[in-house]
Amino acid sequence: MSQLVRIDRVDAVTVITLDNPPVNAFAFDLRVALRDALVAGMDDDGVEALVIAAAGRIFSAGADIREFDSGASSDSPSLPELITTIEDAPKPVVVALHGTAVGGACELALGCHGRVAEAGTKIGLPEVTLGIVPGAGGTQRLPRVIGVAAALDIIVSGKPITAERGRDLGLIDEVVGADGDRVEVAVALAHRLATDSTAPAKTRERDDLLAEAREQPGIFDDYRGKIARRARGFEAPFACIDCVEAAVTRPFAEGIAFERETFVRCRDSEQSKAQRYAFFAERQARKVRGVERDTPELTIARAAVLGCGTMGGGIAMCFANAGIPVIVTESDQGVLDRGMEAIRRNYASTVSKGRLSSDDAEARISLIEPSLDFDQLADVDIVIEAVFEDMALKKDIFGRLDAVCRADAVLATNTSSLDVNEIASVTSRPEQVVGTHFFSPANVMRLVEIVRGAATSPETLATTLALSRRLGKVGVVVGVCDSFAANRMLYPYSRQAQFLIEEGAFPEQIDRVLYDFGLPMGPFALSDLAGIDVGWRVRQHREPTRPKNLRYSAIADRLYEMGRYGQKTQKGWYRYEEGSRTPIPDPEVADLIVSTSEALGIERREISDEEILERCMYPLINEGARILDEGIAERASDLDLIWMHGFGFPRYRGGPMFYADSVGLKHVYETMKSFFEVHHDWLEPAPLLEHLAREGRTFGEWTAP
Ligand code: 3HC
Ligand code: NAI
Repeated sequence: MSQLVRIDRVDAVTVITLDNPPVNAFAFDLRVALRDALVAGMDDDGVEALVIAAAGRIFSAGADIREFDSGASSDSPSLPELITTIEDAPKPVVVALHGTAVGGACELALGCHGRVAEAGTKIGLPEVTLGIVPGAGGTQRLPRVIGVAAALDIIVSGKPITAERGRDLGLIDEVVGADGDRVEVAVALAHRLATDSTAPAKTRERDDLLAEAREQPGIFDDYRGKIARRARGFEAPFACIDCVEAAVTRPFAEGIAFERETFVRCRDSEQSKAQRYAFFAERQARKVRGVERDTPELTIARAAVLGCGTMGGGIAMCFANAGIPVIVTESDQGVLDRGMEAIRRNYASTVSKGRLSSDDAEARISLIEPSLDFDQLADVDIVIEAVFEDMALKKDIFGRLDAVCRADAVLATNTSSLDVNEIASVTSRPEQVVGTHFFSPANVMRLVEIVRGAATSPETLATTLALSRRLGKVGVVVGVCDSFAANRMLYPYSRQAQFLIEEGAFPEQIDRVLYDFGLPMGPFALSDLAGIDVGWRVRQHREPTRPKNLRYSAIADRLYEMGRYGQKTQKGWYRYEEGSRTPIPDPEVADLIVSTSEALGIERREISDEEILERCMYPLINEGARILDEGIAERASDLDLIWMHGFGFPRYRGGPMFYADSVGLKHVYETMKSFFEVHHDWLEPAPLLEHLAREGRTFGEWTAP
């Protein structure tokens, strides 16, 4: 027998243990080994029942996602075939889950006759996050076991539930506590089922819970309506609902056939390819050049945040949400009080939306300790500085931190544009200085750009990467350059959007095109949200170093001078009704735009949606190519993560670099070249883009030299 499964006998029960590290994915070889073990157990007259358990950290991550590209996931025995074999078995099969059991693993459990799980085991169907529907009967069996409403929540959200919740829902027969042994409990259950006089019960024959759903025919349309906003643009969540609906309206065999057909269609779609790419990109980003797997990390047990403004307050919340005590400091009691008040308001709003209990909110707030005493930072493991964007101030603060903080503490800065090396230079420990660039709102956006200074050590990077995971963030390592990768790519995008309105478009047209493309909002709505005054201040600050041939549209400055700061003043690129965030086009702005075009001597023209998309997207992709060429990012997929998690780039398009690959780099290059010929302005195609386009290669294939 292959080593992928181990077979043991406990009295008359065969225990099959899956052993396919790291995550027991059901790759072809494991499926063959499991099938052979099942058949051997069925054929052995001395065996009365079987148990399926697993070795390693988790039970299983489900199907091997890498097999979707080659089609090997359908090779016989496929997961659906294996599960049918189990469900039809004349002897009871009990599964013993631990750690995590998701996707095909959860579906396998649904086909078993008994289900045992260690306390805390995460069980779920995350297929939707990969742009597919569960393809091994999950959409047909789960509603039969726990009812349609609960099944829809699990399948459409992709979020796992715990074994305890599974027991309450009827999914898990027995939860095994820390003092128990899951395999022993499963063997005992298997033995009991075997001594039962009736044949093992088949999940597919259950109908009682489906009958209840047939009484509420509106349930599926209601659900579609409920997720419409959250799932905008995604195909898989709606395909999942269709499959569960088929479970209710069709006989099992037809429902399964419909699920299979839907699974194959989704698996072969561009959306699923992009979402699978994003899954592997997230894992790839954890592998950083020069940081070996076994690099020692500092355990972060206590943290501090300097500055309790917009970012500092949000970052402090990230620590509290992860259960890490955090001190926040300011230089003035009044400002500190106001910062803490903003944090409390933020939690209160989450509680009022029903997303957090008030006890949990209180527990989190109690982990945040406001203090004016700098010396209190002496025994924290990491400090994240989030004071004003001012080099002199930051240097002063890092000098003081160096004197006060423990010798092994990490000193991080949340600067959005300043030179991390210069900041590190004032300390005696530049190897422990790193940038941790959170995105606004810091407690919501998942991206942290981890800025690696010239001296930053592998230990500091490993610590910061591990910390970002603990905070529920996606950490992406980038090098030092002006504005780092995310904002550096954002600037040409916003700049072109502004030139387009001088040439003939209006903000609402540009925003509509980018919203329809899948971004949460277009550049003008974003500018109103972030604050036109903030953008103005950044431009003032950067003016002395602005390259003379880098022009920017002056319309935003005019808005600033008119006191139109965006949502906060109910007027910006748009106007806003009292208490509403809905942008309404404003004739005053349209007049300003038209008169600016006139003053510049530009004859306004009709601009197509296609030109808008290309003029905004391709320059940011072009800047991404420069960033790769300069070694600021290690791989194109890191830039894709930055856009997905920092700016809400639609995951079903895989990020801008993946999008460029799917459009074809030849087309992107030639379009950039034509933009450059017409508009000049920093639109010259990047050498790497040109090079890859000429060779017929993709950003995905490119590796840093
Ligand atoms: N297939 C192939 N490789 C997988 C995999 C899978 N299902 N799940 C994880 N891996 C790989 C990862 O890429 C990583 O590889 P690397 O070390 O080379 O980078 C390695 O296994 C370890 O994974 P993680 O770093 O993610 O390990 P964690 O312990 O952090 O997380 C996990 C474990 C929660 C199970 C997480 O890996 C995960 O979410 N996996 C995917 C789960 C999933 O989406 N399953 C559904 C698959 S589709 C399916 O089952 C179809 C069916 O309906 C027919
Ligand atoms: P902010 O102005 O909202 O907050 C800064 C806070 O620092 C203020 O409350 C101020 O009182 C405090 N502060 C100033 N000097 C201090 C000192 N010596 N000791 C303690 N506290 C002090 O600014 P914001 O927006 O939070 O930005 C902070 C940093 O984060 C800046 O470096 C900024 O570039 C960066 N950043 C900002 C983003 C944003 O969207 N606002 C996004 C990402 C990074």
